[in-house]
Amino acid sequence: MHSHLLAGLDDGVQTLDEAVALVRQLSDAGYTKIVTTPHIISGLYHNHADTILPALDKLRARLEQEGIKVELEAAAEYMLDDYFEGLLADGEPLLKISNKYLLTEFSFVSMPFNYREIFFNLKMAGYEPILAHPERFRYLHDDFDVYRELHETGIHLQVNLLSLKGHYGRSIQKVATQLLEEKLVTFVGTDIHHQRHVDVLSSPRDAAVSALLAASGLKNHLL
Ligand SMILES: [Fe+2]
Repeated sequence: MHSHLLAGLDDGVQTLDEAVALVRQLSDAGYTKIVTTPHIISGLYHNHADTILPALDKLRARLEQEGIKVELEAAAEYMLDDYFEGLLADGEPLLKISNKYLLTEFSFVSMPFNYREIFFNLKMAGYEPILAHPERFRYLHDDFDVYRELHETGIHLQVNLLSLKGHYGRSIQKVATQLLEEKLVTFVGTDIHHQRHVDVLSSPRDAAVSALLAASGLKNHLL
């Protein structure tokens, strides 16, 4: 869950051929189900069901043609910005994972000052919020209680497998590991945008990381 594999919709994969190539590698590596999640960010990527679902159909058709047997679903990764608050206030139907989860992210600069209110409104509207890659928000690294608070208030934290590989640097890897050790994490995701990410993910996984993932009570298998 969590990837950017629909061609041309965001800063992820740009062509259908590239998408097919990446999904083929994931399938060969043992992935059986992929939930892809284009960005929705104010002023940058104005995706919605009308852009995402036709792109999903296109990629599914190509995978079928090529005989690549992977279950492919799509939702979105919603930046919690003014545009998102507008969608929520207007009662717009949002794109869910497994018919209940909503994948959200904070800006890399700062978290929304009213994040508690946004998550509360989301829950009242019937969604179970997931916060993508909390370990990548460096402004939280010295404020671990925020992670604990999010977890305790029912916000599912989703760590990137790329973070555990050290792809974004040592401090992010360390925080990702600590989040797992404290059992604050519900899901792991790939957050694949391009070939380099697949290459990093395909490198052998540290035995200690595998053991940590196995002991973390992750719920990916329920999606
Ligand atoms: Fe993402």
